[in-house]
Amino acid sequence: VSVSVDDALAVRRARHEDWPGVEALLREVDQLHAALAPAYFRTGARAEVEWRQLLGDATAAAWVTADGARATLGFLSLRIYETPHDPTMVPRRRAHLETLVVAPRVRRRGIGRRLVAAASDWAREQGAVEMVLTTWTGNAAADAFYERLGYRVLSRVLHAPL
Ligand SMILES: CC(C)(COP(=O)(O)OP(=O)(O)OC[C@H]1O[C@@H](n2cnc3c(N)ncnc32)[C@H](O)[C@@H]1OP(=O)(O)O)[C@@H](O)C(=O)NCCC(=O)NCCS
Repeated sequence: VSVSVDDALAVRRARHEDWPGVEALLREVDQLHAALAPAYFRTGARAEVEWRQLLGDATAAAWVTADGARATLGFLSLRIYETPHDPTMVPRRRAHLETLVVAPRVRRRGIGRRLVAAASDWAREQGAVEMVLTTWTGNAAADAFYERLGYRVLSRVLHAPL
């Protein structure tokens, strides 16, 4: 029985030594966001100290997809948020998906879907009742991906030059 390459891909929690592979994936998403929203984003060196802080933060969690050759093919990070004390807001624990990126050469093979599934399972175990995230206008792949996974638009951010 032959095992396809995709069957060998496993999602697992991120570790310190994943940094070089994760850094390369973050460069991909940073370039994309700088192209989509140049007034908001620019590419710059990401610091490893932020990686250590993320992994050490009890309210955050990160996953990677690694292949047998130990290349990092996908990365997802999230944070758990409590509603601030405010009588006009419904208090609920939510997970905010902060970053999701799959290496361009292995997109459309189910890696993004598997990362979101693993993160969702974990967030549910933490008592979170929903996942919230932001996409930037013009990111057609992300729009199609999240719509396929059942995500719907909750609000819109408007802006105008002054
Ligand atoms: C968005 C992204 C994470 C999707 O990852 P992926 O591993 O390619 O997604 P999957 O293979 O799990 O896709 C699941 C389903 O989503 C939909 N989908 C994903 N990418 C799509 C695209 N480019 N166009 C249309 N539908 C798409 C499809 O229905 C797909 O199922 P199918 O391939 O069987 O048709 C990836 O395109 C990416 O890294 N983009 C750059 C970074 C980014 O935009 N991140 C998200 C915003 S922060």
